[in-house]
This record gives sequence, C-alpha cells and structure tokens, in this order.
Amino acid sequence: MSANQTPPSATYDSAFLKACRREPVPHTPVWFMRQAGRSLPEYRKVREGIPMLESCMRPELVTEITLQPVRRHNVDAAIYFSDIVVPLKAIGIDLDIKPGVGPVVERPIRTRADLARLRDLTPEDVSYVTEAIGLLTRELGTTPLIGFAGAPFTLASYLVEGGPSRTYENSKAMMYGDPELWADLLDRLADITADFLKVQIEAGASAVQLFDSWVGSLAPADYQRSVMPASAKVFEAVAAYGVPRIHFGVGTGELLKLMGEAGADVVGVDWRVPLDEAARRVGPGKALQGNLDPTILFTTPEAVEAKTREVLDAAAGLEGHVFNLGHGVMPSTDPDALTRLVEYVHTQTAR
Ligand code: CP3
Repeated sequence: MSANQTPPSATYDSAFLKACRREPVPHTPVWFMRQAGRSLPEYRKVREGIPMLESCMRPELVTEITLQPVRRHNVDAAIYFSDIVVPLKAIGIDLDIKPGVGPVVERPIRTRADLARLRDLTPEDVSYVTEAIGLLTRELGTTPLIGFAGAPFTLASYLVEGGPSRTYENSKAMMYGDPELWADLLDRLADITADFLKVQIEAGASAVQLFDSWVGSLAPADYQRSVMPASAKVFEAVAAYGVPRIHFGVGTGELLKLMGEAGADVVGVDWRVPLDEAARRVGPGKALQGNLDPTILFTTPEAVEAKTREVLDAAAGLEGHVFNLGHGVMPSTDPDALTRLVEYVHTQTAR
C-alpha cells in the first residue's frame, strides 16, 4: 500500500483497527505483545537449531511463526515476527541476540566517530521483510497485521550500553554529558526506524507499534527534551499513510501524556496505571491499549477473570480500547491461559 491509499475494507473494518480509530466495535479487540514465539511449543519446534536473527530473515518461517498465535488464540491482530534490533543488524551493526540474554552489541556506540556506523536503511537491506509481509497479508485474510520497530531511546540503550541494562548509565552519561552527540544519535535512529516502518506499511502492515520499552527510566522533563523529538520524527514520517500508530513503554505512568503528544493514535499502558486514570493523563483524542499484568496469567482462571474484569471496567468509558497485557507474554506462560483470556474478553464485551 502506498501513502493515502485505503486498505482492503474487510481488514479496515476489523474490530482492532476500529478501536484504534476510536470507532464503535462489535467486541473489544485483543492481541498480546510478544504473542509470537516465547510460550508456544509449536514455536519452539520450528525454531529448533535456528538462531533468532537468522529466523527473522526467512520469510516462510516468519510467516508461520506470526500465524501461530492467530490460529491458536483467536486474537484480533497478528504482530509481525521480528525483533527491534533487526534494522540495526541489516545496516551492518555487529550485534547478536543471545538466548535468554537479549541483544548484545560487539562494539558499543559511544563516540561521534561511532555514529558513522549507523548508515541509512534501504528497502533492499530488509527485502525479506517485504517478502514475508506479502506472504502474511495473503494468509491473514481480514486479520490486521501490526508492524513494529524499537523507538530511538530503546535502540540507543542497546547500542550505547552494548547489551541489556537495568540502569542505562552509559546512555544517560551521553544524554547529560554530550547532549549534541546524543541528539544526533537519536536523530539517526529516528530516520532508520521511520524507514523500517515505511517498508512494513508499504508491504501491507495495517498498524504500527513503536516499542519504547525502557523509556520509563527517564523523568518527564528529560524525556521531553532528549527523546521526544526523535520519537515524534518517527511518527510524523509515517503519518501520511493513515495507519494507526501505537506507542508503548514500560513504567511510563509519568510519561503517558507526552508519549501521546509525540504523535501516537493509541497509547500503550503497562499495569501500573489503571486505564481510567491513564485516559485522564493522556487526554482526549487517543485510544488506549493494555493493561493486564502479564504475571497474572500464572494464577487461577478465576483470579485471571477477576483481574481482567477490573481492566475492562476501568476501560468502560474510553474512546477506544485495545485489550493487551501491560508488557509482553512471559516465556513460561501457559498458552491455554492466553486462549481463555481472549475468549473471556470477547464474550464479556460482545455488543
Ligand atoms: O511480539 C511478538 O510476538 C513479535 C516478536 C518480537 C520479538 N521481539 C521476538 C523475540 C517483538 C515485538 C520483539 C520486540 C522487542 N525485542 C522488544 C520490545 C518489546 C518488549 O518486550 O519490551 C525488546 C526490548 C526486544 C529486545 C530483545 N529481544 C530482548 C530483551 C530479547 C531477549 C529476552 C527475550 O525476550 O527472550 C530478545 C530476543 C527475542 N526477541 C526473542 C524473541 C522470540 C527470543 C529469542 C530466542 O529465543 O532465541
């Protein structure tokens, strides 16, 4: 699809896209962050012996893994199987995804000279993404496909730290100590991220989510000054396509309003802020996505239903609600608990 073109109407009229647009829905749509992979035995089976990043480059495998949770759980949207570091790998950054650890960067980006390693991303760099999304949109029928990318801050955190971190000390050292270098790094990442999202939308993704998973480590003033301009640039770059843009982070209670203002149509909320309170913080004109604590799924079905009821009650007055977890599915989650949860939300909210 190119800019301003209307997508096929059956997908356009799906509950998920309607909720994103704050239109009336037949039932509250449900999907789960990290629904592809992780908890599914059929996922572990097809991934056997194939390193994570390599699996992201095989269109047939990506298609199969993306479809697995749609078949099993009856979710209202598919999320494209990839990882936030795929575009960085595609432009030649020396990184790998270590099982059980996460993305690890051989030579972290710490100096102005290092910035030169972040070249532009072209569609040819990720031709396997275009191919996989072509296969997927045919297989998915009316189920929308969500494309995604890591936001500049979260990508920078991996590049500057060299791997996962709890404190982000090197990233914050650059942000506070060399604000110009930091701004230039985030601006580079904004361009790469925007180009990666464009590839996915052009290939057929009907919504996009920007994962700023770790931005909750910042105070609002620092977010506004040092991160928001880059995230806003990404959202602005894809605005003309007219597909819903979702913006998500963890521990972002104090940032929700700014994350909406960065250009999102849908603001993702973790489990720490009830959705009615989140709506007050975000203000009018945005749908919300969330926000069941993913660890709730380890308790009894009755307790899951009670907690889900609380989320739905808090969401009752929202302009638009996409049901999701407050963060990704945890790897040891019982897949049947997810299937039951989808069924429960659908029946409870059927109109
Ligand atoms: O959501 C989906 O189902 C689609 C697939 C997807 C993956 N990563 C696959 C993956 C998505 C949307 C992501 C996003 C992602 N990756 C984020 C943002 C979402 C979030 O959870 O906050 C982040 C921060 C990453 C970085 C990353 N990649 C980490 C921290 C890890 C290791 C820990 C883990 O989750 O297992 C990865 C690896 C990764 N990405 C795996 C998968 C299926 C596991 C790889 C393996 O088993 O070898």
